[in-house]
Amino acid sequence: MDVYEAATSRRAVRAFTDRPVPRLTLERVLSTAAWTPSGSNIQPWHTYVLTGAPLAELKKRAGERLASGDPWDEPEYEQYPPALKSPYRERRSAFGEQRYGALGIPREDLEARQRAAAPNWDCFGAPAALFCYIDRDMGRPQWSDVGMYLQTVMLLLRTEGLHSCPQMAWAKFHKTVAELLSPPDELVLFCGMSIGFEDVTVSDHRIARAPLAETVTFIDGR
Ligand SMILES: Cc1cc2nc3c(=O)[nH]c(=O)nc-3n(C[C@H](O)[C@H](O)[C@H](O)COP(=O)(O)O)c2cc1C
Repeated sequence: MDVYEAATSRRAVRAFTDRPVPRLTLERVLSTAAWTPSGSNIQPWHTYVLTGAPLAELKKRAGERLASGDPWDEPEYEQYPPALKSPYRERRSAFGEQRYGALGIPREDLEARQRAAAPNWDCFGAPAALFCYIDRDMGRPQWSDVGMYLQTVMLLLRTEGLHSCPQMAWAKFHKTVAELLSPPDELVLFCGMSIGFEDVTVSDHRIARAPLAETVTFIDGR
């Protein structure tokens, strides 16, 4: 698989089989992703990988919290600007339409949308997950470094026949994640990532992208 194919075949997969992901594969992917560039090569990512009984325990605890209606943890960073302006607002609602429309959930049924989000905290059935932290002191360029790192991980997973779903949803339960991982206090959980083999019996569709001219400007004197 070349990089074009890895980039185009990567999608946020939300249904996995329970086929285990070999530890050696995860080590190969993560040691290669370590070649991700970062400003001054500071490599600001801190990754924890969870499989087996510890992941099952995390899913159990998160599921119990959800079932008991326990509110989300105090956010440690803002996931979106409070008032998302155009064109981002329209793109976000188009995503909601596509995602929840495909599940047959109408726009106004917020409760059903919330229910549909619940599988996040079961890692969509995935047998492996990673949790990526960044130091509280880090600024926007370092958060961007972490994003590049995570995309590198996701592309490498494709070359291994694996799929993934990056999940800020886990940041909403960061205290539960911390119970299992015991990260140092100076770290903030950016996101989780479910990892595994796609359950191809569950139908899925590709989320569209803005046309190139909306996001790219060529200035070439032509
Ligand atoms: C940082 C980040 C956090 C995300 N968090 C979630 C999440 O919590 N739950 C989820 O189902 N998808 C999550 N996604 C997936 C996005 O919804 C998805 O990438 C986007 O809609 C584009 O779809 P695609 O990745 O399938 O092409 C996240 C993606 C990113 C990059």
